[in-house]
Amino acid sequence: MSEFQDRWGCPVTAGSQDAVIAYEETILSYLAMQTDIADRLDSLFALDPSMPMAMILKASLVKMLATAEMQETAVSLALQAHECVAKIPVTDRESAHLSALNAWLEGEMETACMRWEAILIDHPRDVLAIKLSQLNRFYLGDAGQMRDALARVWYAWDNSVPAYGFIAGSYAFALEESGAYERAERLGRDAVALEPADIWSAHAVAHVLEMQGRAAEGLEWLNNLRKHWGAVHNFVHHAHWHRALFALGLGDTANALAIFDGDVWTDKVADYLDLSNGASLLWRIQEAGIDTQDRESSVAKLAKALSRDHGLVFADCHIALSLAQAGCMEDVSDFLDELDRFSGKPGTQSRVMADIGRMLCMASVADAAGDAQGVVDLMLPCRHDIRRIGGSHAQRDLFYRMLVRNILQLQQVPLARALLSERLEVQAGDYWAQEKQAALSSEFC
Ligand SMILES: [Fe+2]
Repeated sequence: MSEFQDRWGCPVTAGSQDAVIAYEETILSYLAMQTDIADRLDSLFALDPSMPMAMILKASLVKMLATAEMQETAVSLALQAHECVAKIPVTDRESAHLSALNAWLEGEMETACMRWEAILIDHPRDVLAIKLSQLNRFYLGDAGQMRDALARVWYAWDNSVPAYGFIAGSYAFALEESGAYERAERLGRDAVALEPADIWSAHAVAHVLEMQGRAAEGLEWLNNLRKHWGAVHNFVHHAHWHRALFALGLGDTANALAIFDGDVWTDKVADYLDLSNGASLLWRIQEAGIDTQDRESSVAKLAKALSRDHGLVFADCHIALSLAQAGCMEDVSDFLDELDRFSGKPGTQSRVMADIGRMLCMASVADAAGDAQGVVDLMLPCRHDIRRIGGSHAQRDLFYRMLVRNILQLQQVPLARALLSERLEVQAGDYWAQEKQAALSSEFC
């Protein structure tokens, strides 16, 4: 084993330069969200089965899938990395990565983020530390920290650095979630111009257009880029989810349903993001007045398959939503009991579940049961804490709409008007809130 430098100038311990190149190519596949990532990992391990950063990368990639099975695999890989590091000298950066991975695997996401972000002070081009910090800050609902973590390294990035566009796209998304729409859109569009297949950067721009209510532009933007996404893994379903949101923004429910059937809910759906896309899109479509009952059971089937994982509260909230929407009341009741047990365990996600997640799950059940007062009683006092389940503003919109819809069902017009007004201050382009507010204003006048 020797010390090399990767193409971003970070020190890395490996058996050969070829192994370092295979590691870099795996990182590039991860950034581009490509289907070949498993093959890349296999090639990397075939070249060097003892490379610490390879083990850390693989453990991180499987941990991201947020299933109980993959958690076990990630823990096993981390143990192998520990054994390896005990036998050979490694760099401080690699030790710090292992320490951050440990915190993540123990469920302490804030600690893990602080450790990745500490690495970035000395190694601002450490792509893995950047992406893992961004991912976990995202699922902590902490947009400001996402932005700040990238702002701190941005001085070290320009177009001459390999994979610059992918990191620019990450920064664009962090800026969008922080409300800096103009700069986010510019960075995201520049990144896509560099690499049209960069779906994360395209997606960052889509978020800007969604938040600004530019639905026609958004649909055109994604429709024009979709021809480049042939090698993208399941994240492509989420990009199509955004197309469906734009279709709903244009009032075109038939197109939204067609996108659900053809591009969002394909025969390849498998993970929690697929589940959240499917459950939330069906909720939005039925809220627009379309019967979605014949599609609910297919989504609920995946929800049941993922219901014992508890990798992310964000996922669990969509599992409860799906089960309730499909009328699986016995399953959702068992699921809520399980969430009670999960809430008592250590770790960031258990704490978020106890503080806010279980309440949101119960609100989804009340919503499906037509218990409007139940939804309002559960959600109104803590609506400002919903961001803690993580996900994007666009994804969490669902819960805000659920609350307002039920307030309207109770005919509490002043409260609905106040919350819509509050909402439009944050997201002026929210077509749904605009329509509801306009209807209430005409009544008011
Ligand atoms: Fe998104």
